[in-house]
Amino acid sequence: MNKLLLKDWYVICRKDEIDENKILLKYVFDQEIIIWKKKERIMAWENLCIHRGSRLSLGSINNGILKCAYHGWEYNQDAQCVKIPSQPDIKIPKKACVKSYKVIEKMNMVWINLSKDANDFVNIKEFNESNFNHVASGPYIMNASAPRAIENFLDVAHFPFVHENHLGVKDKPMIDDYDVVSSNKGIHASNVKIFQPNPDGTNKSGEVIYDYHVHSPFVASLGKDVSKNERFVLVFYVTPISETESMIYTLTLMNFGKLDDKIVRDYQDFITAQDVPIVESQRPELLPMDLQEELSIRSDKISIAYRRYLKKMNISFGVA
Ligand code: FES
Ligand SMILES: [Fe+2]
Repeated sequence: MNKLLLKDWYVICRKDEIDENKILLKYVFDQEIIIWKKKERIMAWENLCIHRGSRLSLGSINNGILKCAYHGWEYNQDAQCVKIPSQPDIKIPKKACVKSYKVIEKMNMVWINLSKDANDFVNIKEFNESNFNHVASGPYIMNASAPRAIENFLDVAHFPFVHENHLGVKDKPMIDDYDVVSSNKGIHASNVKIFQPNPDGTNKSGEVIYDYHVHSPFVASLGKDVSKNERFVLVFYVTPISETESMIYTLTLMNFGKLDDKIVRDYQDFITAQDVPIVESQRPELLPMDLQEELSIRSDKISIAYRRYLKKMNISFGVA
């Protein structure tokens, strides 16, 4: 496991997935995490009771207290045990607590960090611009490694085939050369052109120019300037469940028009459902770092840059 990867922040859920008084169970890097909330405070804990190791996800929440299902130990919002029913008169030791993790809430999503010294949170430029509306979609579960999922997100050449008549047109599959700049901080590709059937909602087909960005090993985004002051951005977050299973969330940002949650989510659900069987079918499951192993062509430039970037970062998870 890459220690470096654990320092990054991962989307664990949408904020509106968490119901008051319910325990949400998620899996990140082969660990079970429970999420629950009391009013505006969100807790992310290891799914393990310190007493006899039973799963806290089987427990219950009452009035901001989480009670283990096995012997009824009660934990407060700081993950500290505050009640041991079988021995109510003992002084509860400080170490009677559950392992808890840092969370960040933003854009109706919740991020978790599993390490003690977290990397900086990846701030997408448009987050700081107040005129952007946003919709979070997902989770999408893919039986594929995180790098395979990201590489598919960066790939435009599949649009006319996998997303025919939605993101591409079968008789115009050509991809012109585009620009890619890589650094330790990530990858930026610009001038990525693709012919689409209905790029601006007016039912007129035409060419679209995307910019693509890799912000961290498992966070990428694409952008499209619809006009001088109108921009569309889609951020793609992959949270590894295990080395070959991924949980994906997307964030759609737009500074123009109306952004309807249901329409955006339905569309994202539809597009992702088209990608899932393809990405799940890819062999080898772990992304090959040896560029000779698969056959790359010019239009794969960004995926080659991504593989080189992972190699440079010494990422050994989800790759081979
Ligand atoms: S295992 Fe949780 S209270 Fe005993
Ligand atoms: Fe796709």
